[in-house]
Amino acid sequence: MASEVLIAPSVLPADFARLGEECIGLEKAGADRIHWDVMDGRFVPNLTFGPDVIASIRSLVSLPFEAHLMVEEPHELAPRYAEAGCELLTVHAEACPHLHRTLGAIRELGMDAGVALNPATPASAVAHVLDLCQLVLVMTVNPGWGGQSYIASMESKVAELRAMIDKSGYEVEVEVDGGIGPATIAAAAGAGAEVFVAGSAVFSDDLGFNHAISQLREAAAAR
Ligand code: DX5
Ligand code: ZN
Repeated sequence: MASEVLIAPSVLPADFARLGEECIGLEKAGADRIHWDVMDGRFVPNLTFGPDVIASIRSLVSLPFEAHLMVEEPHELAPRYAEAGCELLTVHAEACPHLHRTLGAIRELGMDAGVALNPATPASAVAHVLDLCQLVLVMTVNPGWGGQSYIASMESKVAELRAMIDKSGYEVEVEVDGGIGPATIAAAAGAGAEVFVAGSAVFSDDLGFNHAISQLREAAAAR
């Protein structure tokens, strides 16, 4: 079982007119990373932002940036995210016919590589690329929008991945993304996740980022 709890707020619900301030606030509130949900209107119907927006924030905070590319042909775009200052670039297995090559290319650009799995994609999709991954992201909603309901049946995939990774001997993080909040995080943590993306739970807490992030951390630790 993973022991660390890392909280990676997604800025999808942020006020984009104040994106810099929002990211500074997340850093002050103790976030571990910033999670950038990049959508291209093709791999998923929604459209968000790209590398120029991410680059405009880079000098404002020192938190690591992870970009979650929900885009087709992510290998074409990877260099732009390295230039934008992302430490970790996550691509969807479903968007990469040559996943092994794409992960190698991301690493050659100086970033860590992650692989995201849609709810219908099995854990075995990453079995032969664990040596190239820093992280496997288990989607606990179907990608495209924030604020959706957590799919609890993904916990068995988290547990399967955790066991596969532990057996492999590689150090790979298991991240969950979608519907993560105080009511769902403990079960995901109990299944073996250690990195938790949260959008709505962080941005809709009336008591602020600090409260939201501490509450998530405490709930995860109580798994
Ligand atoms: C879904 C995105 C998520 C998601 C998180 O396509 O990858 O990061 O928006 O938002 P919440 O926490 O609101 O589900
Ligand atoms: Zn995401």
